[in-house]
Amino acid sequence: MNIYNKFAYLYDDLMVDFDYENWFNYIENIFEKYNKNPKKVLEMACGTGNLSYYLGKKGYKLTCFDLSEDMLSKAYEKLRRFKNVKLLNQDMVNFNFNENFDAVISICDSINYIIDEEDLINTFKNVWHHLEEGGIFIFDINSYYKLKYIIGHNTFVEDRGNIFYTWENYFDEDTDICDFYLTFFVSEDGENFLRFNEEHREKAYKTEEIVHMLKEAGFSKIDYYSAFTFDRPDEKTERINFVAIK
Ligand SMILES: C[S@@+](CC[C@H](N)C(=O)[O-])C[C@H]1O[C@@H](n2cnc3c(N)ncnc32)[C@H](O)[C@@H]1O
Repeated sequence: MNIYNKFAYLYDDLMVDFDYENWFNYIENIFEKYNKNPKKVLEMACGTGNLSYYLGKKGYKLTCFDLSEDMLSKAYEKLRRFKNVKLLNQDMVNFNFNENFDAVISICDSINYIIDEEDLINTFKNVWHHLEEGGIFIFDINSYYKLKYIIGHNTFVEDRGNIFYTWENYFDEDTDICDFYLTFFVSEDGENFLRFNEEHREKAYKTEEIVHMLKEAGFSKIDYYSAFTFDRPDEKTERINFVAIK
C-alpha cells in the first residue's frame, strides 16, 4: 500500500495542532506514576520523529524505527544532532534488535495500522521479548468509537493555502477496518498544484480485545486511560492510552 510517501513531507505541516511536548510530558508522567526510571527506550513507528525529538533531547538512550523511509528521512533532520538516538527502518510486526529496553513506546494510533489480529499479537509478543523484566510498554489507539462514528463514513476537507486535501473514509462493519482515501493538492507558488493520493487503513480494536491480546503476549499488569489523563475511558473516548508491564 502506498502510505507515508509524499505525505511524509507534509506530515509536520498538517500536525501543527498536535502538541508533542505535551505528549512527551504525559509519557514522563506515566513513567513516574508506575515508578519507572527508564534509560533505554524503544520507540516504534516514530514517523517524522516528533516525540523522538523530546525523548532524545531529554537524554534517553533512544532507538526509534518506522516502516516508511520518507518519514524517517524527515525524522533524521530532527534527530541527527543527538548522539544518544539511533534511527532505523523496521516493521513493528517483526522487528528484531539484539538488545532489551526499559520502555517501549508507540504513539499517535500507529498500532491501528496493524490490521491483522495475528500480526498485532506477534507485535505485542515481540515487544514483550524486547523488554527488560519490569519494563513498561506505552501506546495509544484511535478508539473503536472514533474510527466507526467520527472518522468512518465521513469526509473531511481542509484548505491550508498551499496544501489542500480531502480525506474520505469508509468503515467496513464486517472487518472493523476503516479505509482512508487521501487526496492532496500541493503548491509551491500558490497557483499550480500537484495532486497525489494515498490510501491508509486502520483497524478499530475494542479495548477488551487489546487487553486480551496483551495478556496473550505475556503482559501481567495492564491499564488503560483516556489519553493524556489517568481517567477511565468512556464510550465516547476517542484516544485510548494503554500501559502494560512485563
Ligand atoms: C499516524 S503516523 C504516527 C507517527 C508518529 N508516531 C507520530 O506521533 O507522529 C503512523 C506511523 O506508523 C508507521 N507505520 C505504520 N505501519 C507500520 C509498521 N508495520 N511498522 C513500523 N511503522 C509503521 C507509518 O509509517 C507512520 O509513520
